[in-house]
Amino acid sequence: MNTLDRETVKNAFNAYTENYNASDPKIKLKIAHTYRVANLCERIADTVPSADKDLAWLSGMLHDVGRFEQVKRYNTFSDADSVDHAAFGADLLFKEHLIDSFGTFDKDCVDILETAIRNHNRFRIEEGLSDEYMTYCRILRDADKIDIFRVNTETPLEEIYNVTSEELKQAAVSDAVKNGFKEKRALIRNERKTPADILVGHICLVHELEYPISVKIAWEQGYLDQLLQFRSDNEETNEWFAYMRSALSQQGK
Ligand SMILES: [Fe+2]
Repeated sequence: MNTLDRETVKNAFNAYTENYNASDPKIKLKIAHTYRVANLCERIADTVPSADKDLAWLSGMLHDVGRFEQVKRYNTFSDADSVDHAAFGADLLFKEHLIDSFGTFDKDCVDILETAIRNHNRFRIEEGLSDEYMTYCRILRDADKIDIFRVNTETPLEEIYNVTSEELKQAAVSDAVKNGFKEKRALIRNERKTPADILVGHICLVHELEYPISVKIAWEQGYLDQLLQFRSDNEETNEWFAYMRSALSQQGK
């Protein structure tokens, strides 16, 4: 890509998000998340010879544009309880032409961006994509996962999961969730039954990081380690967390 002006992109992003209440912690969180994901995309793309760093960065800047309207209308990040924020954002950008305020991009770039954004929150990337399209989908998904570790560390778990401290501290980890971790995969939403399951679910994202640099950054940042240090009042849950710590260190993950 040859027409990216980062200042134009940042200005367009700021202009768009000014329509939303920045004192709302959910809006604030998504603005910070956007910049972090964009920088992570660039850092990952730097290790992928076939990837264009500017295009990867731009995918990060645009990927969660649907979040702002989702929060305004529904006051939740739960797609299941509101809208698919990725599809919503992609429609806004590419059907309602919001993308035009971010610059002029050739059709190939626009198609890649749309594909990466629509796929960023799916359990699995759609099948049949070319290697080039897959690369940008993978970079964006890795960057997003890495920043989820931070968000889950910096925001009180009770707030994210809508549970009381008591519920979180007492929670057990379900067998199906333990199996998912052992199978080294991400969890499907309805596999998670307890607040501790949700926490394990976030840790499981490490299994699906595609690029070695992503695994490296995830550990380097220290947030993943903090999630793994969770202390429960439930002894079985503590034992399970100890198991996960040792399993991940043995895997070099
Ligand atoms: Fe997202």
